Amino acid sequence: MPPIRTTRLVVTVAAVADATALARYSARNAAHLAPWEPARPQGYHSESAWVDRLALNVAEAAAGRYMPFVARLHNDEEIVATANLSNIARGVFQACTLGYSVDAALQGKGVMAEMLEAVLDHAFGEMGLNRVMANYLPENARSAALLERLGFEREGYAKRYLKIGGEWRDHVLTSRLAPEPPRI
Ligand SMILES: CC(C)(COP(=O)(O)OP(=O)(O)OC[C@H]1O[C@@H](n2cnc3c(N)ncnc32)[C@H](O)[C@@H]1OP(=O)(O)O)[C@@H](O)C(=O)NCCC(=O)NCCS
Repeated sequence: MPPIRTTRLVVTVAAVADATALARYSARNAAHLAPWEPARPQGYHSESAWVDRLALNVAEAAAGRYMPFVARLHNDEEIVATANLSNIARGVFQACTLGYSVDAALQGKGVMAEMLEAVLDHAFGEMGLNRVMANYLPENARSAALLERLGFEREGYAKRYLKIGGEWRDHVLTSRLAPEPPRI
């Protein structure tokens, strides 16, 4: 995928070459992300751990099951936001799950929304998906507001849905649909 330029960002598919920048992003945002993510094992933020994970991601992406995106401000090396399309299903489903985060220093500036608009355009355009699902912890008010602004609709409440921070936690389930159903 060629880089996508938005007003403030350059959005690319994460590659092994992004390991250094992703290691820095995850280390400096560890406390910011911890309440909303799975418990991370020791060594998770190291560059070598990122090289290993990214190599697996590249294989998953080639198989069409996973798309990890990173965003940088124009003319800057640092990664400032991430978004992943996972569990990509084809056939009669044409759907995936969206995960995302923005650097703590850039929260509340619309950077996440700007990146996700580009990712969603790609998901419904190039990738031809019908449905992008995004699920959040009930107390994640920022995530709830972001998804509502982006046009996601609440579809349900799933008990004991994901193991976050070492605990099985309920989640609110939302989706956004493609403007038109894909032709399959
Ligand atoms: C969830 C998360 C991504 C939301 O990020 P965010 O910065 O609040 O989201 P947005 O990019 O939509 O920014 C919205 C804010 O920017 C403001 N804003 C400024 N300029 C803007 C612009 N050009 N466009 C849109 N909003 C803009 C909005 O008014 C809003 O401000 P507010 O937070 O004071 O109400 C972020 O809190 C995060 O990374 N959390 C940790 C990880 C996480 O929870 N991930 C999701 C798990 S489900």
